[in-house]
Amino acid sequence: AELLQLAQRMPKAELHLHIEGSLEPELLFRLADRNGIRLNYPDVNALRAAYAFNNLQEFLDIYYIGMSVLREEEDFYDLTWAYLERVHRDNVVHVEIFFDSQAHLDRGIPLEVQIGGIRRALRDGLAQLGISSKLILSFLRHLPEAHALETLALAQPFLDQLDGFGLDSSEIGHPPEQFARVFARCRELGFRVTAHAGEEGPAEYVRQALDLLRVDRIDHGNHSLDDAALVRRLTAEGKILTVCPLSNLKLRVVQTMDRHPILTMLERGLKATVNSDDPAYFGGYVNDNYRALIAHLPVTREDLYRLARNSFEGAWISEEAKATYL
Ligand code: ADE
Ligand code: ZN
Repeated sequence: AELLQLAQRMPKAELHLHIEGSLEPELLFRLADRNGIRLNYPDVNALRAAYAFNNLQEFLDIYYIGMSVLREEEDFYDLTWAYLERVHRDNVVHVEIFFDSQAHLDRGIPLEVQIGGIRRALRDGLAQLGISSKLILSFLRHLPEAHALETLALAQPFLDQLDGFGLDSSEIGHPPEQFARVFARCRELGFRVTAHAGEEGPAEYVRQALDLLRVDRIDHGNHSLDDAALVRRLTAEGKILTVCPLSNLKLRVVQTMDRHPILTMLERGLKATVNSDDPAYFGGYVNDNYRALIAHLPVTREDLYRLARNSFEGAWISEEAKATYL
């Protein structure tokens, strides 16, 4: 109970959150209704019942359908605002959120609508909840690099509203090396970059993300543990891993929570953080992830402090801002 309280009340940063993955079934139905969209599920319970996944792809198939109710600027606002209000209760004080711009562009939703709505909510989050934020455009790796390059060109007028770029979606068969050019361009433009790697894919994909994409963080990174030399390198470089325990369980990256490797990561010197990934689909927000770890692993007070400190250390904020949390 003491550990739970500590986890709950610690100020935290969330560094791995897909805003479309925070779309709760209730809001999803409300937006479908508002936009005159017919869903293939009769109600919220039927939709929730479909949230049972054997792997990443089974989740992604339903996740891309779910986000199709997002049409107007107001929808992106409501989605983002609901997330901020929710994590405010978890004592999350800084968030760095991904959005899947290409999925929305392919549905005919302009970047202006997407970024406009998300950014307006982030501004209100700072003003009304005191939550600071960064916005990360995440490229979809199941699409060709040319699509990512076109998206970057389209994003030119909005670059001042973006803080970084990421890489997500179906991992296996879409290695980081396929995105070296678009990531080089993002870095040339002065942006921070991160990539999902080692979630389902091998340690080799984490290596590629480091060597070829030159990422500032690794999202997930679980399979780094299969390669001792890679672990030493990640540790030496102080690279932050944005780990997502409930996501790992729901997508069967780990078989049970008591076998989750996050404490092993810390023992080996890896800078792991705790994040929710897609909380509406995986059964919980940041504190729920801490709760699951505490319930199933021999977590100590020091581990909790370490995980929370790592979240601020890995944040793309100034050293001055970090100093106020560390
Ligand atoms: N998109 C949303 N969540 C994701 C995840 N966990 N892995 C890859 N792509 C994603
Ligand atoms: Zn993710």
